Amino acid sequence: MNTENGNKLKTLVFRVSEANFDAVLEKTAEILRNGGTVAFPTETVYGLGADGLNPYAVGKIFKAKKRPPGNPLSLLVHSMEDVQKVAKNIPEKALKLMDNFWPGPLTIVLEKNDVVPGITSGNLLSIGVRMPDHKIPLELIRRTGTPLAAPSANLSGKPSPTLAGHVIADLSGSIDAILDGGETAIGLESTVIDITVEPPLVLRPGAIGISDLETIIGKVKELKSGDNEDKPGGTSEPQIKQYESQKLNHYTPDTKVVLVEGQTETVSEKIAELFEEYKNKGLNTGFLLSEENLNLLSLKGLNPGKYFVLGSAKQPEVASRKLFEGLRDLDRKELDVILADGSFSQSGLGTALINRLRKAASLKYVV
Ligand code: TXA
Ligand code: MG
Repeated sequence: MNTENGNKLKTLVFRVSEANFDAVLEKTAEILRNGGTVAFPTETVYGLGADGLNPYAVGKIFKAKKRPPGNPLSLLVHSMEDVQKVAKNIPEKALKLMDNFWPGPLTIVLEKNDVVPGITSGNLLSIGVRMPDHKIPLELIRRTGTPLAAPSANLSGKPSPTLAGHVIADLSGSIDAILDGGETAIGLESTVIDITVEPPLVLRPGAIGISDLETIIGKVKELKSGDNEDKPGGTSEPQIKQYESQKLNHYTPDTKVVLVEGQTETVSEKIAELFEEYKNKGLNTGFLLSEENLNLLSLKGLNPGKYFVLGSAKQPEVASRKLFEGLRDLDRKELDVILADGSFSQSGLGTALINRLRKAASLKYVV
């Protein structure tokens, strides 16, 4: 498992089943204990894990993902003992959040302990910590005996992986092993909340919504892109950096994405109009659509041809699970532009879904 000399690694791929669970987990925990890198499913997206307290191992994550140095990683933990090991001065509000939402899709930014190396935290004094709700990473962390640094298992700038095939496409030859546990249940990355500031600040929306958080700990703020007022009390260097890192994390498919937000009918009209315009320019156009808009566009006599359907606009949970697969699928089709439907319901996971669509898009219309 030597990446320094530039040689390609032989990436082991294990399809995890009940029958091989024990043997496969033991083998991959050993790889991790020896400073290697292993990708695995969580309930959100696939993560790329390495011993989070070993700077040499963490360095391999940055190298494999081509992630810019200084961008903080989060740690996955298996127990409250793990949390006590990596974080200090844990506020009451954080304990309440852990009580209510862990294991689950919530990353909590806490003051870090000295055992966490600077390379893991992007030299910040804080660290994101999450207990995943998935048997494979929980057991892997337990057997490895250390919290795992585990960003999403994609090349930096690509959509997060929701299938083992996505990890293979991005990282095969650059990491030691991949555990294939099928499609991830949620499909979008965890909610990130910084609890070291008051009021706590939501840095990334996810499956745990603002109202879920506020029910437990009272008022929270949301980080809006370009919103400088959201910088917390002190404006020390590390604090500023943590917002920068959040904004760096873009999902940019190679193909230009144009997002149209609004009600289903008006969105379909705008998409039809843009399609005509692009066709006249000789552009090869693809579509990322709700079922409703696929039907409306077909009724208008359009044959979308190259499209990916995310499911009903009324079911943002289904669309969220399929979003990154859809972006990757369309990205492979050598299109000039992807017209994306932004008419999904804003309830539940809808807020996180539209956040990811906006991040992927380089041009946005609201109709
Ligand atoms: O659902 C998830 O969170 C997935 C799965 C694999 O666990 N992981 C994931 O990791 O999305 P990553 O590294 O792609 O995102 C972690 C987020 C980043 O946006 C990072 O900027 C933020 O957490 N983060 C980590 N430590 C931080 C800190 N000290 N201050 C501010 N943000 C931090
Ligand atoms: Mg990521």
